[in-house]
Amino acid sequence: MDMNILPTIDDRLEPDTPAIADVETIFAGSTDTESVGNSPSWGKDTAADFAVPDTIINPIIGDRIESYILQEHLGKGVSCFVFRGWDERNKYPVALKIINWENVFDRAAALRQMRTEAAALARVKHSKVVRFIDFGFDPRWPYLVTEYVEGRPLGELIRSGGALPTEWAVYLISQMVDALGAVWRAGLVHRDIKPDNILIGPNGTSKLIDFGLAKATVLQLNSGQTGPELAGTAAYLAPEQAKDASVVDLRADIYSLGVAFYETLTGRLPFTGKNRLQLIYHHLNTEPTPVASINAEVSGLISDICQWMLAKNPDDRPQNFEELRQAFDAIIGS
Ligand SMILES: Nc1ncnc2c1ncn2[C@@H]1O[C@H](COP(=O)(O)OP(=O)(O)OP(=O)(O)O)[C@@H](O)[C@H]1O
Ligand SMILES: [Mg+2]
Repeated sequence: MDMNILPTIDDRLEPDTPAIADVETIFAGSTDTESVGNSPSWGKDTAADFAVPDTIINPIIGDRIESYILQEHLGKGVSCFVFRGWDERNKYPVALKIINWENVFDRAAALRQMRTEAAALARVKHSKVVRFIDFGFDPRWPYLVTEYVEGRPLGELIRSGGALPTEWAVYLISQMVDALGAVWRAGLVHRDIKPDNILIGPNGTSKLIDFGLAKATVLQLNSGQTGPELAGTAAYLAPEQAKDASVVDLRADIYSLGVAFYETLTGRLPFTGKNRLQLIYHHLNTEPTPVASINAEVSGLISDICQWMLAKNPDDRPQNFEELRQAFDAIIGS
């Protein structure tokens, strides 16, 4: 497989993506296992002491949170704002995830969830996973600070241009195999693998973000909290995760990565539905049309591996990192 065409993935990235050329230089001296930044401060007491302010204030550009100055609005999830910020103390760009109180129905649960996200992310140190930097409580908002990743979500690339060339799809998803390997070794299941949570930077470097639904059996994070809000995104949901999100293991992430692979290769999802229930019905009962029947450019091997990842029964999928890695190595070597 010719990987030389890969740098042209930059063409799909916004030409006006902010250039933070120094990011790689700044982190160049640090290894995957080195921790950068401040000590995590998510102790139980801190969270319990945090009083949600009576008057809701939304963060805006120019606001300061501890040593971080908000510089650019990057995104708005259901329950949070994401900003690019500048860490004045350490002199490097960061991303700040800040709770959007207006959209939060259960404030205690939202606080718990952000604390869980920080604790989960802090356990994973890998170059393909966004790097945890800090978590804290400003009087106005709890906030999570991570490495700033230059680039765009894979979901946006697919929405704006459809399927990606097969080599790109393999290259990008193969990096997520390694990212997930690190996540699983840390004793976590991500539970929200989807193209919108994969950021693609220059030269097609990908990073996994958004540990908002991560579950850690070792830490008992999220135990007893399974509800619709923790169930994951329906289009990418493993059948067993749709039934009970609290019992899933890494094979649910493999299924979701299979859906993301499918979408990257074909520009469409394996299943669509008018609502969440219909989608879940398909995940449980409908065999996906093989990728190779939709996109003739895709080889039988790639199509088969994608289908394998999408097996209904977790026992019929790749079972662990090694099996999945071997499968992708076979594609890359072919
Ligand atoms: N470290 C980062 N560097 C650059 N951009 C980021 C970073 N983290 C998040 N973003 C941007 O913000 C968007 C939302 O981030 P994220 O996926 O973490 O929030 P979300 O969990 O989806 O929100 P919600 O909690 O409401 O579901 C991303 O799609 C991306 O565009
Ligand atoms: Mg997200």
